[in-house]
Amino acid sequence: MTIDIHTHILPENIPNFKGKFGYGGFIHLDHHKPCCARMMVDDKFFREVEQNCWDADTRIKECDHHGVRVQVLSTVPVMFSYWANANDCLEVSKFLNDHIAGIVNKFPQRFAGLGTVPLQDPQLAIKELERCMQIGMRGVQIGSHVNDWNLNAPELFPFFEAAEKLGAAIFVHPWEMMGQEKMQRYWLPWLVGMPAETSLAICSMIFGGIFERLPKLRVAFAHGGGSFPSTIGRIEHGFNCRPDLVAIDNKVNPRDYIGKFYFDSLVHDKDMLQYLVNLAGADRVALGSDYPFPLGEDIPGTLIKSMEFDDQTKERLLSGTALEWLGVDKNSFLV
Ligand code: CO
Repeated sequence: MTIDIHTHILPENIPNFKGKFGYGGFIHLDHHKPCCARMMVDDKFFREVEQNCWDADTRIKECDHHGVRVQVLSTVPVMFSYWANANDCLEVSKFLNDHIAGIVNKFPQRFAGLGTVPLQDPQLAIKELERCMQIGMRGVQIGSHVNDWNLNAPELFPFFEAAEKLGAAIFVHPWEMMGQEKMQRYWLPWLVGMPAETSLAICSMIFGGIFERLPKLRVAFAHGGGSFPSTIGRIEHGFNCRPDLVAIDNKVNPRDYIGKFYFDSLVHDKDMLQYLVNLAGADRVALGSDYPFPLGEDIPGTLIKSMEFDDQTKERLLSGTALEWLGVDKNSFLV
């Protein structure tokens, strides 16, 4: 069985939230020709998408072609809307979550769902997280930061506590990349900003003591953990040489948390995937492709299958770790 934990989906038609809420910044789809649409932020072009971004049947066909049994569905991070009024963001979140839940419940053997929540208001986010779990989702996808808060913000702790209690899986995806004003060219926010955002999220959760205080919380980080795995030596050295700066909220060596959270496998490089598996163990790495976007792995699982791992390790990377992180039994996709 192959499970892809990192795929994005949108509803085919997105309401006019700008008209409804009275201010802009929300995404809508401009279906300018058959099978294709432009993601627009108000009147500004964001990204061209194809039918596989919204159509479940098209996705299933492509999955069958690629040998993927289950896609874990999450929204596109630009939809998080943490910057908006919290109640408006809740409405956007509910709309997206109901859409994903509808697909998951229609095709329970082929899809698992992650919701999105208005994290700028942690109490509202907890309520929507609870609702997500009631309507058949396995957890939520969250951003690498929430406006001015990094993920160690005390305001966010009750949300993580609730996720642990509910057994909700959390997928952390980079968004609103840091330093974009210096990254106008060369797609740098995606190539430089995203890996840094992911490391920001991991370091914030480690140094803020989130993993220390919530040992049962199941968190996976996108893009192989971004720049975190390759800079763990520097991070650990910083912790050892300047504890006055680094160890102020948590006295435990950051390296001790490797093995306590998950990474997707989206690194596009055999040596890097080998390193990630050496570092965290195959038990903590799960196939993620970023389907259907161009920076993703075109045929999900190709890199894992190309490695010299034994069959057991490959199976773990292709599905075992995903099942554990999602908190589901293999059979739940075989009904
Ligand atoms: Co992604």
